Amino acid sequence: MAIKVKDLPGPKGKPIVGNLFSLDLPQLHNTIEGWSDEYGDVFRLNLGIFDQLVITRPSMLQKIMKERPEGFTRSLKMNRIIREGGVHGVFNAEGEDWKKHRPIVAKGLDVKHQKDFYPAIEPVLGRLYKKWSERAESGEPFYIQKDLLRFTVDVTSSLAFGYPMNTIEEQGGAIQDHMEKVFPMIFKRINMPVPWYKVYRTKEDKEFDKAVEEMNRLVDEFIAAARKRLEENPDLRKNPPSVIEAIIVAAEEEEDDISTENVRGNLLTLLMAGEDTTAVTLNWMIYLLSQQPEVTENMRREANEVLGEKKWASAYEDNAKMRYIEGAAFESMRFKPVAPVMLFQAVEDVELEEVFVKKGQRILTQHRHGSLQDENFSDATKMKPERWLKESRCPVHNTEAFSPFGGGARYCPGRNLAILEVRMVMSMLLKNFEIELVTPYDSVNEKMAFTMMSSPYQVRLRKL
Ligand code: HEM
Repeated sequence: MAIKVKDLPGPKGKPIVGNLFSLDLPQLHNTIEGWSDEYGDVFRLNLGIFDQLVITRPSMLQKIMKERPEGFTRSLKMNRIIREGGVHGVFNAEGEDWKKHRPIVAKGLDVKHQKDFYPAIEPVLGRLYKKWSERAESGEPFYIQKDLLRFTVDVTSSLAFGYPMNTIEEQGGAIQDHMEKVFPMIFKRINMPVPWYKVYRTKEDKEFDKAVEEMNRLVDEFIAAARKRLEENPDLRKNPPSVIEAIIVAAEEEEDDISTENVRGNLLTLLMAGEDTTAVTLNWMIYLLSQQPEVTENMRREANEVLGEKKWASAYEDNAKMRYIEGAAFESMRFKPVAPVMLFQAVEDVELEEVFVKKGQRILTQHRHGSLQDENFSDATKMKPERWLKESRCPVHNTEAFSPFGGGARYCPGRNLAILEVRMVMSMLLKNFEIELVTPYDSVNEKMAFTMMSSPYQVRLRKL
């Protein structure tokens, strides 16, 4: 007979409130890993008002992700909080609603659009090269994550909005500064047992409101500019050049289904989903490489071979050739996935392997634990980019245990764009610069704030 959630093992916690007030949120993912070692890959977390089902077993995670949207939703509380923050798009839509949003957003991010848009994205890389050349010349240490965030916001804006934003060179008021305030607050609110912010607004709440307002204002400007482009050139309706035109056209055609609020919601979703995730992945990668001279040299060799005389990948086709760099990106995400934890809810009663899951059951999944076990990847604690190359695959290679981009029908539609950006940045960086980690390696920590960030660290660049 299937085991009920309340009968699963788990940390004891305090009387009545259980573990509710003892969770250290910035370390949530690590705490879960520790408990998983102690209580197994399926356990119960007593949160006082309810029991949370916690899962780290890869086969179960895959089942949950694949049985969407019918069998499982994202956490409904999370969806509501994101919506309260003025965002309603593909990420927090569910059921039939999600089915309408997904194809429009996914189409705008597909490989064809990336190829078509490469000439618009590539200059962003040139600007980053220029900025890093200046930094190398000055020899001053700097926080590289800030530059990476500006790079990804400029790329996402080009592709999604058809707008050549230049936050890399322009100072102040950058959308990225607003977004920095949005994610941590959403994460905090999702994990608040009592929504105090509804009765009393702290300084942080007010900053969050202001940031959301600013982002909305900016996106409204993008929408107005895209509407103008469509008016001036109605042919664009047949083959919308960027996501924004595609969403506007779809919204006009199906007025009842995709409202103007949804147009804005999806654009904000893209900005939010596309910026932090990719920049933080790159930031972790640079950090990890500081201890991996051999991997770094292999990556540099590949960049030199592919780029030849060029300073960066000026042609889209260059990127596809950088397979080792892509492998290094996957390895980096195996160690430092930016979304190690996801939250779900069951739509109906279901048996999930040996566990009986009731309708509405809240589920927390931790995706890193499995990917660092030798039973899933040979020499799991070693960074080996070659394990991702067909010709040099390791004996144990369980891709079920690797889900940094999620899975099933809701897997990340920005995956290809993210990998493209990683290849672009890493090849340019290694082709032209030597990187020195200035902050001591061991003093850098993981910190969950919706995405799993690193504590700030500095690097110094030297031109090669
Ligand atoms: C390394 C970079 C990235 C990582 C690690 C990442 C990770 C994820 C994960 C884990 C999910 C949830 C998937 C699921 O529920 O199964 C997701 C969803 C999503 N991502 Fe990404 N992402 C990245 C980059 C991007 C980029 C560049 C974009 C677009 C510009 C993007 C757009 C989205 C959207 C729209 C969703 C919601 C999909 C849906 O609910 O149907 N992501 N991403």
